[in-house]
Amino acid sequence: MDQALNYNYKIVKQFAIATVVWGIIGMLVGVIIAAQLAWPALNLDIPWLTYGRLRPLHTNAVIFAFGICGLFATSYYVVQRTCQVRLFSDKLAAFTFWGWQAVILSAVVTLPLGLTRGKEYAELEWPISILIAVVWISYAIVFFGTLIKRKVKHIYVANWFFAGYILAVTILHVVNGASMPASLFKSYSVYSGVQDAMIQWWYGHNAVGFILTAGYLGMVYYFIPKQAERPVYSYRLSIVHFWALIFTYMWAGPHHLHYTALPDWTQSLGMVFSLILLAPSWGGMINGIMTLSGAWHKLRTDPILKFMIVSLSFYGIATFEGPMMSIKTVNALSHYTDWNVAHVHGGALGWVGFITMGSIYYLLPRMAGETKMWSTKLIDVHFWVATIGIVLYIAAMWIAGVMQGLMWRAVNPDGTLTYTFVESVKATYPYYVVRFGGGLLYLTGMCLMGYNTYMTLRNRATVTARIPALAAGHA
Ligand code: HEM
Ligand code: HEM
Repeated sequence: MDQALNYNYKIVKQFAIATVVWGIIGMLVGVIIAAQLAWPALNLDIPWLTYGRLRPLHTNAVIFAFGICGLFATSYYVVQRTCQVRLFSDKLAAFTFWGWQAVILSAVVTLPLGLTRGKEYAELEWPISILIAVVWISYAIVFFGTLIKRKVKHIYVANWFFAGYILAVTILHVVNGASMPASLFKSYSVYSGVQDAMIQWWYGHNAVGFILTAGYLGMVYYFIPKQAERPVYSYRLSIVHFWALIFTYMWAGPHHLHYTALPDWTQSLGMVFSLILLAPSWGGMINGIMTLSGAWHKLRTDPILKFMIVSLSFYGIATFEGPMMSIKTVNALSHYTDWNVAHVHGGALGWVGFITMGSIYYLLPRMAGETKMWSTKLIDVHFWVATIGIVLYIAAMWIAGVMQGLMWRAVNPDGTLTYTFVESVKATYPYYVVRFGGGLLYLTGMCLMGYNTYMTLRNRATVTARIPALAAGHA
């Protein structure tokens, strides 16, 4: 059959499988480092297995491998279905898959070896960083090329979010990645001192805003209406949501640098924009949740919808907590503590993890010509195991964080500190054990998803989905 008449599902399926596989690996490393924090003997005195080297491996594996493979899979699926055309170039799309896997494998080798640029979420050394740029630009060509050749006049809102994320990441990566190589495996940032810090956290915060938020909102606006079989609650609000969100995020980065050498007015600016960010974030969350109007009963029986709606609730929590933490006086307590880790994982496990899992559960069986995964029951078990895991994880870290902050600032009437640092570490121990348990549950859920994926795709060829002859609306 003429390829031009069907969608390219092969690439979607490859990225969807990669999402599941890397999810299991990245979360396993998360569980290992959680165990190391509770029981430091697990560092085993082997340099490559120490916490300091495995921690960036965890963050890179969950964000860049699990998270971004999920975004590749869903954006390639959504852009084809809503534009009613095949991807702009099959070859370039295949290059983005293999190129991205090469990036991930390079991270898996270099980070445990201790090769790093030392910038959080931008650790990978310059040769890998260049490969990322090449793959990303190819991704942009495939995505925007597909948008340009679309058969449907209107560009559906999910594509706006995916487009915003792809464009912003290109700019962030190139600007923050600018480095002077000193050897094959060592480079130095071209910026220095406080400018370097500001560029780094402009990047870091917008990685949250455009990867961990905008990209996943693309999933929200396509997969929730599809799964609920309802239109987006307010399409007008979704457009306001998009422009307000991307405009505001860009300015909020300095909230990561409160009470540093960064000029004070810059910190206040970051704080104010973070507070404003509450509005578009909650507008979007409400729009997503209200899409279920008239279909609430489906939540009783549909575990995929549960993943999606609970994910939006965690998005609401993280985007309420974030603006609060950006208030300088609150940040004076929260910064350096496990409160940050609670905030991060509320967003990461609850929001990013759940919306990705829900979307992949929707999309995967369709790659094999089915409408459902092999076992709906197993999806339900996954949902509950993971939800309990998240609650244990973040509740433990919230308590630990506030406790640490209060212990560190407690002073005796004579002005001396009430607690030594090591006393706060000791007090944190039980919470680290609970977090380890929560993480283990979350990982168990991901393994169930792996098994369900295997059973769904076993012995099945990728289907050939025909593109409708006439553009009749959104697919
Ligand atoms: C309105 C939205 C949000 C605002 C204003 C916000 C604000 C903040 C603030 C103030 C911090 C602490 C900075 C510090 O003391 O060092 C932080 C940390 C962080 N937030 Fe958010 N947040 C938001 C949403 C989210 C979401 C949805 C995620 C998704 C996962 C997320 C991920 C992170 C991460 C990864 C960090 C830790 C960065 C680091 O130090 O490595 N945030 N955020
Ligand atoms: C089984 C699940 C997981 C476990 C047990 C886990 C565990 C951990 C641990 C122990 C840390 C180090 C905390 C510290 O510095 O004290 C960490 C950091 C981090 N994890 Fe996870 N994690 C899991 C899943 C995820 C997922 C799915 C994501 C993202 C999608 C994620 C993103 C991050 C980020 C961004 C940080 C750095 C936070 C910061 O600098 O404040 N994690 N994780």
